[in-house]
Amino acid sequence: MMLQIPVKKKHQHQPETTLPANPEDHASFSDVVLCLVEKRMGASRKAFLTSLARRKGFCVEGANSERVTHVVSEGNSGDEVVEWMKRNGSRSVGAAGSGPALLDLSWFTESMSAGQPVEIEPRHCLGVTVHTETLEDRCQVAAYACQRRTPLAHKNQLLVEALETVAEEALFCGSEARNLAFSRAASVVKSLPWTVTGVIEIHSLPCIGEHSRKIIQEVLEDGASAEVENIRQSERYQTMKHFIKIFGVGVKTAGRWYQEGLRTISDLQVHHAKLNSAQQAGLLHYRDLNTPVKRSEAEVIVQVVQKAVDQLLPGASVTLTGGFRRGKPSGHDVDLLITHPTEGQEVGLLSKVICWLDSQGFLLYHSTHRNTFQTFDDPELSVTTATMDHFDRCFSIFCLNYSHKSIKRDSSDREFACEGKGSGDACDWKAVRVDLVVTPNSQFSFALLGWTGSKNFERELRRFSKYEKKMMLNSHTLYHTEKKMFLSAASEEEIFQHLGLDFIPPEERNA
Ligand code: CTP
Ligand code: MN
Ligand code: MN
Repeated sequence: MMLQIPVKKKHQHQPETTLPANPEDHASFSDVVLCLVEKRMGASRKAFLTSLARRKGFCVEGANSERVTHVVSEGNSGDEVVEWMKRNGSRSVGAAGSGPALLDLSWFTESMSAGQPVEIEPRHCLGVTVHTETLEDRCQVAAYACQRRTPLAHKNQLLVEALETVAEEALFCGSEARNLAFSRAASVVKSLPWTVTGVIEIHSLPCIGEHSRKIIQEVLEDGASAEVENIRQSERYQTMKHFIKIFGVGVKTAGRWYQEGLRTISDLQVHHAKLNSAQQAGLLHYRDLNTPVKRSEAEVIVQVVQKAVDQLLPGASVTLTGGFRRGKPSGHDVDLLITHPTEGQEVGLLSKVICWLDSQGFLLYHSTHRNTFQTFDDPELSVTTATMDHFDRCFSIFCLNYSHKSIKRDSSDREFACEGKGSGDACDWKAVRVDLVVTPNSQFSFALLGWTGSKNFERELRRFSKYEKKMMLNSHTLYHTEKKMFLSAASEEEIFQHLGLDFIPPEERNA
């Protein structure tokens, strides 16, 4: 027998009706809970279908019930049903594949005719665009890295590595702009809390240009990008990578050496005369300096420097910054910030610390710089701040001695530990890069923020300050270019507040 279902009335504008009471004990099919979608069906037709279903022994509930197993709609797409359910308080309808079945009215009419729920067939089901709901949520990725949280562990290793390779290659070619563009794209992908499986998922992400998108697509579809593989295999890229791993060697020097036909470390040793003192030290300790520094080693160095500082200026503090402050278990160096609570007490401290460390045999190399505040992009600001205080920094190579310490060198490190050491040396020490920075107390928060990194995060903080807030940020201060005033801060939190940014803790600055 055919069911008599009244034709729906058009242009219904009635609000969602409250369903009459439906005591569960009247329902015959307790594992089936229906929900009828009022959109396009209309309120009166919905009321009619509801009472029909109940008479037949079905349980019918509202969209906000978590017990709903079957959602029935007429004339809506699956996406529209998901949207309607969410608007009407459903928490169980989400991404495709989860929550109740989304069904066309045909399943309902057949079930009513049968007097019981009929088996769900594909023709009854409403299709939902895969990722519709989650994509919308996911695409809320902020444009600047300093507005995003980027934990150390991310979920898109292959994509990030591919983009970072192209970024690095751009740097090797002298293209700062392309380097920035690819670094930004890599940084956005790093911040994603899910593993990208299709190019549609990156469609509305910020900072991902056509070229980055193409690389991502290749990696997703083929497991690798031909362009990236070509870069990785190129002699120039490999040689440059090798050379810039030498302390004191930047992209310019590495590029010049490559142009001159140099390819290996041995080639450099033959041309020893061309190396400055930093590079000579870098070459001498090449293997140690390219062996990751462990947190335990960094902590020993903090203790050594704290001991020096305690003797030279009681009350001064040593703070571990850089990658270790962001939670990295190892790093390429140890970044230390030294300050004293009384402004002015720190003047002259760095040279005393260096002298003390050197006299104790802790330094294999050091080079100190007076920071003259010339790091602003804006020349006007450099002039404005030229009279400001400045702090000192020292790029050094520490001799980390294992014989008197509680830590041990890994046996895997041992085989190359003797390079740069005397033949009778017991290989119980390791060369470690250490950056020391002394800052006046009033600039400490800026220095802490500036030296904690990551480099991408810092770059984005400065870019955000400049273009979004008309402020200039560096490791000394924050300057409002329109109000022409410096903004002080006693903590990193205050700097974020000045910039109108949510505070991002160090562990989430791994952009
Ligand atoms: N930095 C700086 N001036 C320099 C060198 C570094 O202000 N001449 C800052 C960088 O901007 C970065 C921080 O110091 O934010 C740490 O830099 P670096 O030690 O190179 O990197 P890490 O993030 O610590 O990574 P790693 O663990 O490999 O050392
Ligand atoms: Mn570091
Ligand atoms: Mn450093």
